[in-house]
Amino acid sequence: MYEFGKEEIAAITKVVESGNFMRYRGGEGGFTETFEKELCSKFNVKYALTVNSGTSALICALAAMGIGPGDEVLVPAYTWVASALAPLAVGAVPILVDIDESLTLDPNDIEKKITPYTKAIIPVHMINLPCDMDAIMKIAKKHNLLVVEDACQAVGVSYKGKRLGTIGDAGAYSFNVFKNITCGEGGALLTNDEKTYVRSLIYHDAGSFTRNYASHVKEPFFPGVNYRVSEIQGAIMGEQFKRIDMIIAQLQKQRKIMAEIFAKTNQFTIVKHNSPTDAVGLSIRFESPEAALAFKEKHQIAPLSESGRHIYTNWEPLLEKRSFNPKMNPFNWIQRKIEYTKDMCTKTLEIISCSANIPLPYKMAENEVRDFANKLVS
Ligand SMILES: Cc1ncc(COP(=O)(O)O)c(C=O)c1O
Repeated sequence: MYEFGKEEIAAITKVVESGNFMRYRGGEGGFTETFEKELCSKFNVKYALTVNSGTSALICALAAMGIGPGDEVLVPAYTWVASALAPLAVGAVPILVDIDESLTLDPNDIEKKITPYTKAIIPVHMINLPCDMDAIMKIAKKHNLLVVEDACQAVGVSYKGKRLGTIGDAGAYSFNVFKNITCGEGGALLTNDEKTYVRSLIYHDAGSFTRNYASHVKEPFFPGVNYRVSEIQGAIMGEQFKRIDMIIAQLQKQRKIMAEIFAKTNQFTIVKHNSPTDAVGLSIRFESPEAALAFKEKHQIAPLSESGRHIYTNWEPLLEKRSFNPKMNPFNWIQRKIEYTKDMCTKTLEIISCSANIPLPYKMAENEVRDFANKLVS
């Protein structure tokens, strides 16, 4: 969480005073709807749907696109586990793909992992670092695959002038407390495709067919779940969203200062960036895992390989192909043998053992940022 203040508190108070906590109860123009309109207008995307988490946004997008049993979805081997579990929630299975030096999906490995059963790719923009979207969209077009961008960790960041999450067929944002903007727990799905949006509306709200908006829906209603948010989340996000450009600008400014200082050291290099002029995330790469560990010893910034839950080798529920009910296990419906082994993405393991993410000190003044960067290269 970078910013949270009296504006958010005032917005929450307004919801409480109105007594209307539910977005579909008060008719048109509530807080959540206003936030979605602002999101669409600023990020230049046709449709946005606020949901209760980034995980829900991913699942909702896959469900809306009709991904299901027998389908394979390509996901990176380095990400938060939710990117890999979302396909399972719709009955499909994730196929793990290596990352490259940019710490995001390796387009070369995507091509190697495509089978006749592949239906979609989930490029994940980790730690504010954009994937190589030009290459990924080209591969997707060539093989007729859908692209659901996982921009949960990169809300507001751009790739070649376009906001992440608006480039693929759909995008997912997370608004949990670790993210660029937050309402505690929340998320959003973005798309330019009307059918995907309408089917997301249906899926995210079990009662969709009873709502006022149902009269505009031409798609047949199907059973959904409940990923709705309350107006409290919508109201907070409306205020958080007003701050997004300021937050991104501050991070970019700090990144620039630090990158200039880092450029002078030969202890490490700055991780390759797929859209340098928009750069927000700052990660560094060492020549060896030993050098990365020595840096940790000195500065308490650990290599990414120590960020256990973001690495496929630690995703036991997936590696063991478990499910809540044996008959509902997506691995019953696969069309070829799929094995998950701890050494299936060794390139990823090698890269993350030599890389570290530098948390940008958002609140620090310019001279303090310089001191911080100078210390890291000392
Ligand atoms: C890359 C990535 N994808 C998906 C998610 C899921 O978001 P949420 O926690 O809001 O469900 C997260 C959250 O940490 C994430 O970092």
